[in-house]
Amino acid sequence: MSFLQTIESMKTVRDFRDDPVPSTILKRLIRKTQSEKGLLPDTTFSVRLIEDGPGFFQLLNGKAGYFGKMIAAPHYIVLFDEPKTGVYENSGYVMEKLRLSAWEEELGTCWISLDERVDAAPWVVDPVEAPPMALVAIGYPEHGIFRQDVLKKSARLPLTDLVYLEKWGQKCPVEELEVRGMSEIFYYGKLAPSWGNRQPWRFILHQEKIYLALLVDDQENRALTDAGIVMLYIQQAAHDKGFSMKWQLLEREPALASEMGLPETYRLIGLFSFN
Ligand SMILES: Cc1cc2nc3c(=O)[nH]c(=O)nc-3n(C[C@H](O)[C@H](O)[C@H](O)COP(=O)(O)O)c2cc1C
Repeated sequence: MSFLQTIESMKTVRDFRDDPVPSTILKRLIRKTQSEKGLLPDTTFSVRLIEDGPGFFQLLNGKAGYFGKMIAAPHYIVLFDEPKTGVYENSGYVMEKLRLSAWEEELGTCWISLDERVDAAPWVVDPVEAPPMALVAIGYPEHGIFRQDVLKKSARLPLTDLVYLEKWGQKCPVEELEVRGMSEIFYYGKLAPSWGNRQPWRFILHQEKIYLALLVDDQENRALTDAGIVMLYIQQAAHDKGFSMKWQLLEREPALASEMGLPETYRLIGLFSFN
């Protein structure tokens, strides 16, 4: 399966079979994720396996997941990292890479929101000092008695609501994206999952560059994690189309944001440009 086929077919799995996944498969997945580059050149993340899923579920039930609704799974995977600039974006990027690799191994995963501080270190072999930044449930999807694919991918906003041309709110016609050879890149980008499926990001094509604007309300850290995920999708789609482009994280860009007419609730956080 190509990366783009994986992106298209992957869905969030919330019902898992009870049987464990062989630890060789899980450890291989983690080794692969750990050995690949993150979003930033100098990242130091640590990915760890929680083998005792049922035990960890008991610990987090009521404390993690949407409104404390923890997802039961045979195993979990945690990403630990130090709080620093770009850490949420990188955690989203790296963990989503792992989810896509897991899907290729016919494993299902579900992102789990960590709202309370959780001491996950005692649950992993080889613990690290840093706090948990991202968590997913992992296991074989439960397909039900008819063994058919009943899972649905949640709907996404249309591209015209997500991509603006030069200025905030100025919809970018799809033909314009096609002329630039970029329609597929955004098509795959829009498939990126997000917390509550909020899709808190918008793209602005401005003077031949792609800017990522992010909704920074009281859910900022979640939105930054979502941003890392969409950056992965855009980067990989561009790479597969033969564009040699990469992301750069932006600090505050008030002059540019005001030139583009960004609302106060959005911030320019990424620039995607040719190397
Ligand atoms: C950062 C993040 C946190 C999430 N937290 C949860 C969660 O706590 N519980 C849950 O059931 N789904 C969670 N999700 C999954 C999203 O609800 C799901 O990806 C989105 O609705 C899109 O659905 P799809 O992945 O099936 O296309 C989370 C997703 C992200 C990216």
